[in-house]
Amino acid sequence: MSCSHPNLEPRNSSWDDFYKTELHNYNDHGEEGEVWFGMQSVNRVVRWIVKEISEKTTPILDLGCGNGMVLLKLEEEGYINLTGVDYSQPAILLAKSLAQNGQIKYETGDLLDLSSSAVFTTKYDVVLDKGTYDAISLSPDGALQKRLAYVENVHKLIPIGGYLWITSCNWTSSEIISHFTANSKFSLREEIPVKQFKFGGQVGQTVCCLVFQAA
Ligand SMILES: C[S@@+](CC[C@H](N)C(=O)[O-])C[C@H]1O[C@@H](n2cnc3c(N)ncnc32)[C@H](O)[C@@H]1O
Repeated sequence: MSCSHPNLEPRNSSWDDFYKTELHNYNDHGEEGEVWFGMQSVNRVVRWIVKEISEKTTPILDLGCGNGMVLLKLEEEGYINLTGVDYSQPAILLAKSLAQNGQIKYETGDLLDLSSSAVFTTKYDVVLDKGTYDAISLSPDGALQKRLAYVENVHKLIPIGGYLWITSCNWTSSEIISHFTANSKFSLREEIPVKQFKFGGQVGQTVCCLVFQAA
């Protein structure tokens, strides 16, 4: 692994605790909450989508959407078929609170159990992941099995030629490429150049950003 951000240590059900606090802070004083890997990581994916996806009705899914910041920015760019899913209900409640005009569809669902949400019964031309594969990779039990299940399941959500965008701070780009291309379910479309991210006063930890296409 290339870096391990302290705030990405294994949480599982404690994601609920994390987002309960975030939701409380939002309700109490309007704080939007954590932007994982900084706003530049949000802007990077939004810029790429604006450049590559001209059709604003393209179905886009944010997997492990947290507070839904990426989707909010895509909505500002005019995208109208946006879905966010997260297995933490407080995260979904926070995302819904932040998305005040109700255009973005938010649902709870566990990617590792595709029967857990109707969101997983359809396909998306673009699936976004910012920190969710990392979180799954850091599961205290069965991490390898869960990673393999992630690749299998996410592949079922994307039509052939559709895109999977991954931002990770736990794996190097070559590790991510090997995980996602190993069984030929995905091919690498491009690696997005990244410099640094800044979080909690710390500068210099790198993330990697990769775009795959479903085979
Ligand atoms: C590091 S946070 C990133 C949140 C969001 N993508 C962002 O960038 O702000 C990881 C997210 O993945 C979610 N998550 C972890 N495992 C998941 C799973 N199996 N299914 C759905 N969501 C999951 C967590 O609840 C959490 O919101």
